[in-house]
Amino acid sequence: MIDRLQAEFGIPDCAHITSGNNGLPKLVLSHRSGSAVEVYLHGAHVTSWKNSKGEELFFISRSSHFEPSKPIRGGIPICWPQFGGQGPLPQHGFARTRSWRLLRTEKLGDDALVAEFELSENADSLAMWPNRFTLRYQVLLDTHTLTIGLRVMNTDDDSFDFQLALHTYFQVADITRVAITGLTGTTYVDTLRENVRETEERNSIRFDSETDRIYVGAPDAVVLADEARGRVIRVEKKNLTDWVVWNPWIAKAQRMQDFGDEEYQRMVCIESGAIASPVTLAPHESWECATTFASET
Ligand code: BG6
Repeated sequence: MIDRLQAEFGIPDCAHITSGNNGLPKLVLSHRSGSAVEVYLHGAHVTSWKNSKGEELFFISRSSHFEPSKPIRGGIPICWPQFGGQGPLPQHGFARTRSWRLLRTEKLGDDALVAEFELSENADSLAMWPNRFTLRYQVLLDTHTLTIGLRVMNTDDDSFDFQLALHTYFQVADITRVAITGLTGTTYVDTLRENVRETEERNSIRFDSETDRIYVGAPDAVVLADEARGRVIRVEKKNLTDWVVWNPWIAKAQRMQDFGDEEYQRMVCIESGAIASPVTLAPHESWECATTFASET
């Protein structure tokens, strides 16, 4: 299968399909500048983004599963069509545990590289969620940016609702020296305090305990400063209303089987999403969103 994918989608020096962890196929896009991104077909899961200096920007747990039926812990899990346990489906929906189809790889005129993945309903998804759909997921790599685009198509005769989160795990050097800015004055739902709604008063969000918040109707740009490393990443969403900010801290890290006890110190999740107000998609309509990550230093 990997040889067939490589023959169809490989581009010399730019796009390679190789055998990833546990033999799962992954696509590696390598930009002329030195930046690179890796995407597993399992979940269309971005597991690595390196900037042009070759520094890894995303976090992957050393204890992550790489198995067809389980989500990968780190990178960008696509949570769809349900966020968390907010419905009858498995936690965070099923898109992150399905194998997606690679549709296209291309080198664009300005040297940016693009790959596109597709997922549609199958008997398993219809058994738990009776809607026909097609998702198209686009990964666009440039010198300083990674842009993720998702298009949801309702191919059915009835409307359906969905939630979405691009559950991005950033690698940080020291969680106690991390600041997230851009959310001052935004309302958040505190998942750890019975979903109480409060307003973020701080100019910088910092971490000294478990954090699990949904910032609703939030501004489109947030900035992550990894102060210990002197690194800044700007994240910008389009047509998505919410951000989730999550760090499991000590006790939850210990409870998570696919996450090392100490790893909470080296990661933070900033997830762009449509969570608080699910999207309603009419029959034969489509909907699009995007998120761009920019490595500023
Ligand atoms: C976050 C949720 O988005 O995902 C957290 O807000 C949850 O509550 C976390 O613990 C991880 O979820 P999972 O299913 O990948 O362990």
